[in-house]
Amino acid sequence: MSNNKVALITGITGQDGYYLSKLLLEKDYVVHGTVRRSSNINTDRIDPLISEYSSDGRLILHYSDLLDSSSLSSLVNLIQPDEIYNLAAQSHVNVSFKNPIFTTQVGTLGALSIMEAIRYSDKKIKFYQASSSEMFGGEEKTMLSEESPLIPKSPYAASKIFAHHMAQIYRDSYDLFMTNGILFNHESPKRGETFVTRKITKALGRIVHGIQSKLTLGNLEASRDWGFAGDYVEGMYLMMQYDVPEDWVLATGETHTVKEFLDIAFKTVNLNWEEYVKTSEKYFRPNEVDYLLGDSSKAREVLNWKPSVDFKGLVKIMVEHDINEAKKDFTLLKDNLISPTWEYPKL
Ligand code: NAP
Ligand code: GDD
Repeated sequence: MSNNKVALITGITGQDGYYLSKLLLEKDYVVHGTVRRSSNINTDRIDPLISEYSSDGRLILHYSDLLDSSSLSSLVNLIQPDEIYNLAAQSHVNVSFKNPIFTTQVGTLGALSIMEAIRYSDKKIKFYQASSSEMFGGEEKTMLSEESPLIPKSPYAASKIFAHHMAQIYRDSYDLFMTNGILFNHESPKRGETFVTRKITKALGRIVHGIQSKLTLGNLEASRDWGFAGDYVEGMYLMMQYDVPEDWVLATGETHTVKEFLDIAFKTVNLNWEEYVKTSEKYFRPNEVDYLLGDSSKAREVLNWKPSVDFKGLVKIMVEHDINEAKKDFTLLKDNLISPTWEYPKL
C-alpha cells in the first residue's frame, strides 16, 4: 500500500491546474484530475505532466463535470482523496455576463456538490475552494484583506461568494476542513489567451514577428494586483497543510493598470504600445471592478508565504514566452501550414 498523499483537482486542465498538479506531483502526491469532454482534446497544458507521470499511476484523469453531481460523488468515493482542490469554474468575468446561468451553476451548485460528497464521506477530506478577489468589487482604493466586505459586480463574483460562504458554513456546522483561498489575479505563460495579460503578450509576440498588426482591448484604466501563478499554487498547498481551515488572501501588495502592463511589455521590445492598441466597447464590461489591491499579511506571517516574482518579472516571463511561441507560428506561416489571422484572439 502506497504512503503517497492523494489529491483530487477539479479544473486540472486550467492554468492553476497545471501549476498545482506539477507542484503536488513533485511532492510525491498521487494526483487525480477531472477533465470535461470536449470536441478537441483539452489537456494541452498538462500534456507534459501526463507523459511524465501517468505511466506509473501518479497522474490519473477522469471525465467529469461540476454540473454532474453524481459523477463527483462517485469519484470522491472511488478515490478517497486526502485533499480536494476545487479549481473548476467558468472563470472569465466578462463571459459570466453573457453566460450567467452556466457560470452560476458551476460556481455555486458545482462547488456545493463536492462539499456534499465530502460531508457524506467516511474519510476526513480537506477541501480547498478557489475564491477570488473579484468578490470584493474594487469600489474603493483600499487594501483588501480577509475581513473586507464582499460587493459582487458580476455573476462570476456572486457565484464565488456563494461557494465561499458555503465553505465557511460547512466548516462551522460539520467541523469539516474547508479552506478558502481568496486569490488576487495571477498570470503566467499558461494563462488563458482571452485574459488581458496573456492577450497582450500573445499579441505582442505576434506583432514582433510581423503576423499581427493591431490589438483591440477594453478598459485600460482598470488596476489589478497581478502575481505569478506558480507562487499562488504554493500558497494553496500551504493553506491545506495548516492545522485549521481558514480564509486566506494571496496578493503581491502592488497594483498596476492595464496601461502600465502594456507600457512595460511593449518597452521590453522597444515598441510604443500606443501605435498598436485600440479600444472597443466589445471588451468593456457592463459593470467594472476598477481597482484591486490585496493585503496578504496573514498568509505571509502565518504560512510564511511570499511571492517570488514581481510585476516587471512577470511581464518579462510572459513576453519572452510569447515571442518564442510566435516564432513557431511565423515559421508555420512561412511554410504555408497556417493562414494568417491578423488579430488574435477573435473572442
Ligand atoms: P482557468 O484557466 O479558466 O481554468 C478553469 C478550469 O475549470 C479548466 O480546467 C476548465 O476546464 C474547468 N471547468 C470549467 N467549467 C467546468 C465544469 N462545468 N466542470 C468541470 N470543470 C470545469 O482558471 P484558472 O486561472 O486556472 O483559475 C483556477 C480557479 O481559480 C478558478 O476557479 C478561478 O475562478 C479561480 N481564480 C483564478 C484567479 C486567477 O487570477 N487566475 C484568481 C482568483 C480565483 P476546460 O479546460 O475544459 O475549460
Ligand atoms: N479579458 C480582458 N480582455 N480584459 C480586459 C481587456 C480585454 O480585452 N481590456 C481591458 N481589460 C480589463 C478588464 O476590464 C479588467 O478590468 C482587467 O482588464 C482584467 O481583466 P481579466 O484579465 O479578464 O481578469 P479579471 O480581473 O476580470 O478576472 C481574473 O482575475 C480574477 C481575480 O481577481 C480572472 O482570472 C478571474 O477568474 C479571477 O477570479
